[in-house]
Amino acid sequence: MEITKDILYVGVNDHDIDFFEGQYIVENGMAYNSYVILDEKTAVMDTVDRRFTDEWLRNLQSALGTTKPDYLIVQHMEPDHSANIAVFMETYPDAVVVASAAAFNMMKQFFHTDFADRRQIVKEGDTLSLGKHTLQFIAAPMVHWPEVIVTYDSYDKVLFSADGFGKFGALDVEEDWACEARRYYIGIVGKYGMQVQNLLKKAAALDIQTICPLHGPVLTENLAYYLNLYQIWSSYGVESDGVMIAYTSVYGNTKKAAELLAQKLQEKGCPKVVVADLAREDMAECVEDAFRYGKLVLATTTYNTDIFPFMREFIQHLTERNYQNRTVAFIENGTWAPMAAKVMKSMLEGCKNLTFTDTTVQIKSALSEENMTQLEALATELI
Ligand code: FEO
Repeated sequence: MEITKDILYVGVNDHDIDFFEGQYIVENGMAYNSYVILDEKTAVMDTVDRRFTDEWLRNLQSALGTTKPDYLIVQHMEPDHSANIAVFMETYPDAVVVASAAAFNMMKQFFHTDFADRRQIVKEGDTLSLGKHTLQFIAAPMVHWPEVIVTYDSYDKVLFSADGFGKFGALDVEEDWACEARRYYIGIVGKYGMQVQNLLKKAAALDIQTICPLHGPVLTENLAYYLNLYQIWSSYGVESDGVMIAYTSVYGNTKKAAELLAQKLQEKGCPKVVVADLAREDMAECVEDAFRYGKLVLATTTYNTDIFPFMREFIQHLTERNYQNRTVAFIENGTWAPMAAKVMKSMLEGCKNLTFTDTTVQIKSALSEENMTQLEALATELI
């Protein structure tokens, strides 16, 4: 696949994967992207997952023809991209591997060699001339590991963005970009908003016409749309108006409260209400929605003098990703000593800029008349 006249796609689609990075459901598979830049010198951009060595080498071979690659540029050492570095260096014994100093330290850990006699260490601002194409390296620490560099080709105006602008899903499946890019971003990079903001600032100084990420499609049109979403996500801004109600329920009473609140919000004209059963839905999708909307209602039962496990896990996902800048409300349930609201609030204590609603709904076993009034008050407050 041709990206530009000189840049070819040599990545692979993975439809065999169960969980990406050991935890994310990827119903439409995953793509591990890799690219070749053909010029007086030839560069290969990253490798692919270890389960696709043969397919990737065949793709490389057909892109290269009789040419031998001069450089393997390693932007990120996570094994979904780096697993085939050693195989590549054996296959092409004259090639030089180009990466950050931190990446070479990781190579030693993964491959027991840092290719000391065939390496070039690069840092922020360094360039590598291939002929017409000059590659500029930009440090992007923690997007999403510390060693990451991204690469700008000023000749074709292409940004090779490593994990940035990636998404779940193989490239041979048609699906909405934002949905799976958001779930990917919030899940995998969400903690590192500040570092992504730093990278966006550096990218703003470049004339970018194409973004070549390591996952998901190459982006060529309407780049402002993608950049704007990354701006919102990385600044923990609110992307869509609406309320997310995340609940767990043991015997259906907390669920009933969640659904009644949703109905009241809809009746009052709330632009979007998302209701999620944390025990049954994809946790990453729920976490994504918590970051997408500006208002979050957490509804759960008191359990072992704590809260129901799925809610605990959910809140932990939020806090470890620096959840902030939002309005939060609580619905708690407990038959003899309700304390879920107190536990949930204390779990969110370290989060920046959260506003808690005045109304907290306390259910004692099953919904009461008083609860109906509280739900009405909460809906009004949220609207
Ligand atoms: Fe796609 Fe952070 O590896």
